[in-house]
Amino acid sequence: MALGTALWTVMTGAARKAARAMKRDFGEVEQLQVSRKGPSDFVSAADIKAEKTLRVELEKARPKFGFLLEEGGEIKGADPQHRWIIDPIDGTTNFLHGIPHFAISIALQMDKEIIAGLVFNPITEEMFYAEKGKGAFLNDRRLRVSARSDMGDAIIATGIPFRGIPGHKPFLSRLERVMEVTAGVRRMGTASLDLAFVAAGRCDGFWEAGLKPWDIAAGLLLVQEAGGFISDLSGGKTMLASGDVLAANSRLHRPLLSLLKDG
Ligand code: IPD
Ligand code: CA
Repeated sequence: MALGTALWTVMTGAARKAARAMKRDFGEVEQLQVSRKGPSDFVSAADIKAEKTLRVELEKARPKFGFLLEEGGEIKGADPQHRWIIDPIDGTTNFLHGIPHFAISIALQMDKEIIAGLVFNPITEEMFYAEKGKGAFLNDRRLRVSARSDMGDAIIATGIPFRGIPGHKPFLSRLERVMEVTAGVRRMGTASLDLAFVAAGRCDGFWEAGLKPWDIAAGLLLVQEAGGFISDLSGGKTMLASGDVLAANSRLHRPLLSLLKDG
């Protein structure tokens, strides 16, 4: 069982500490919406502050581990085997617009393999946590992916490319193929939570192209430990390198892959 381990204590402690200030900052953002300048500088400051808290807390507990940080980039540690991969606020655009759906994402990599993952929504206080071989949990409840096998009943999450991000045409063609055969497609704006929702059986699948390692490292382990399948959009295992992800329950992964591959 992944809960109560030494790693769980370290990771949840760091996330809860960063979340306290983040929640206060989110309250402030809701006020700043109406100002003419808008809250974007304030949000960048909140992002950097959260990343610093996470780094300080994790470094205190594991001084030799390295980091891959969304804001701060790569920081080599004395121990070359271990590295934390962190997104301090995944779903920044939601945060900026006062939409309470964003998360802290922390993964631990050992020799290129993700061995622990945490995704925490500070507003709902949903703590998703998994360790390799020890299962995935939402707070104290064990998670399983959904058992749905009929695509017609399935809800699929995705991410839509936006201004400055390539791949608009291939996205639209994939969307068309998926929307024609499923019960619905969702764009919620936080990739780490999309993966956590697949792990929790709330969504039956999730795909997105061009993500960064910090968006997905923790969520991929959650899905795997909840019994789901993960791949890139060609069925390979390049997710962290390519940023292309398909995660689904074990029954729907293959049919979704045939819909999504070939751009
Ligand atoms: C973004 C979110 C979003 C996804 C984008 C990511 P950020 O991360 O995960 O759901 O569609 O591709 O960049 O920028 O909010 O940390
Ligand atoms: Ca992100």
